[in-house]
Amino acid sequence: MDRRVFLHESARNLAAAGLIFGTPATFASATNSTTLARQQCETTAGGTKFAVATVHELATNAARDMFRVGGNAVDAAVAASFMLSVVDGHNSGIGGGCFALIRDPSGRFYAIDGREEAGAAATKDMFLKNGQPQPEWSQTGPLAPGVPGQVAALENMATRFGRLSWRSLLEPAIQTAQNGFVMGRLANVIRANAKDLGRFASSKRVLFPGDELPTATTRLHQPDLAQTLQLIANEGAAAFYHGPIAQAIAEYLGAEGGILTVNDFANYQVKQREPLVSHYRGRQVIGFPPPSSGGIHVAQMLGMLECFDLRALWRRDPILVYHLWLEVMQRAMADRAHWLGDADHARVPLGLLDPAYLLQRAGDIQLGRTSKVAGHGLPPGVESQFFGDKHTTHLTAADQEGWVVAITQTVNTSFGCKMIAPGTGIVLNNEMDDFSIAPGVANAFGLVGTEANAIAPGKRPLSSMSPTIVLDGAGRPVLTCGAAGGPRIITCTLQTICRVLDFDQSIQEALDSPRVHHQWRPSEAVVEERMDPASIAGLQTLGHEVRRIEASATAQGISWSADGRLEAAADSRAGGVAFVE
Ligand code: GLY
Repeated sequence: MDRRVFLHESARNLAAAGLIFGTPATFASATNSTTLARQQCETTAGGTKFAVATVHELATNAARDMFRVGGNAVDAAVAASFMLSVVDGHNSGIGGGCFALIRDPSGRFYAIDGREEAGAAATKDMFLKNGQPQPEWSQTGPLAPGVPGQVAALENMATRFGRLSWRSLLEPAIQTAQNGFVMGRLANVIRANAKDLGRFASSKRVLFPGDELPTATTRLHQPDLAQTLQLIANEGAAAFYHGPIAQAIAEYLGAEGGILTVNDFANYQVKQREPLVSHYRGRQVIGFPPPSSGGIHVAQMLGMLECFDLRALWRRDPILVYHLWLEVMQRAMADRAHWLGDADHARVPLGLLDPAYLLQRAGDIQLGRTSKVAGHGLPPGVESQFFGDKHTTHLTAADQEGWVVAITQTVNTSFGCKMIAPGTGIVLNNEMDDFSIAPGVANAFGLVGTEANAIAPGKRPLSSMSPTIVLDGAGRPVLTCGAAGGPRIITCTLQTICRVLDFDQSIQEALDSPRVHHQWRPSEAVVEERMDPASIAGLQTLGHEVRRIEASATAQGISWSADGRLEAAADSRAGGVAFVE
């Protein structure tokens, strides 16, 4: 590889000081890393048996209880996931979808794709009126949902890998839906979305108890949801896809002008994907392949960063690292906008992960100032340039046997399409908005796309969800993480990996630290307010157009120390809860 591409005027001194490396080894063979030392992680709340982190105390408790009655991390994660449907329904739930990345005790990985899917009647132009894009249709109302994949994915992982009964995994969620819980932060989210939720009588009936806007102390009872979960507990996912639940959802959406049918539900299949393996400084990074864009772009960004001695740069001046993060984010996100889509329907070039391509892509990064990223790159194997805090949640669990589970699940933006199917309690997703509804038209996250992510029947919308597991050179887990926050998931995952691996931060410190985000379009560096003013000013001096926001992404993670102790961390931004024993 040509080391000279990094020797820009502004970077020359740093290169001379040994702060820039020449070549990314990102996608070198897995075996070349076995001699490298394992990264130490601080443990502040270490345990050896079990760890879990979710965004809600009741979900963490459900997971802990499954472990204590003999379940493994998969049982724990499934119980936590169902509980989140009840207590955190604005973020994720059985009316949405997920990606689950699982490691078994033998070291084998499974990527379970429970992403929502467009119905058979979906068309490329379904969100256009007289040629004009109608983003409000893809975000709110009966055309916005795809066929939910959550229940099918949870059943798939529980029956293949869990050891407790299916019914017992749903029991805590059923009890909580029936008996109610104190809303806390959820009440704020309902109030913030009251106008759109209020358009749908069935949503109002569930979420505005006594026809009033709730407060933090309001108790939420969801008897319909309890009944739905009980049916799923008794009859399995078949009740959802082939029985009365599919019928109720399809009838409701159809009556309101939607297009999903019972056949769309009956045809839904969980897809087993090949996990995406890349390398970063001697570790293996296991990510989720398309229709997630997260795995590819986290790997791309790490590949570009591997050219730089991040640890030395961090010690010298953290602003340089924030700057580099923002630079690689722009390049990866420009590629995302052009090349990424459901690989079962669109041609996603493998060359996006080619080390030489990444070296070339990073070649114009300057340490002394921002560079303009005009657009996507041209990865090898592509003949032509053209062929043809919002919401979600991440939960994670690991156990002493070696199971590691990382699930990112979502209904897309808060309360999805804002519709609760009457009699079911199910919050329906608005994942159709994750498609590119027209070239260059921004979705709810400001993301743009092209043909690769256009709507087609049976296609799954591109996602940013990035459940990730990192192994040391010997194949032992050192870190698992993932996040909520649309495209900020990808950039948050990158920063979490770098902070733990490159800067030796504990997982909690890594999650609590300030984050930056760049998604190429709009062309702005999004910076959390918790970042110190001097660093923000430093980024501005380097040429970044800074926009300050309160919080970027919400992550959960688990790390392993060199002696195998577990540390779990929940993001302080969302008041999540971690537990270790
Ligand atoms: N719905 C957000 C995502 O999947 O990226």
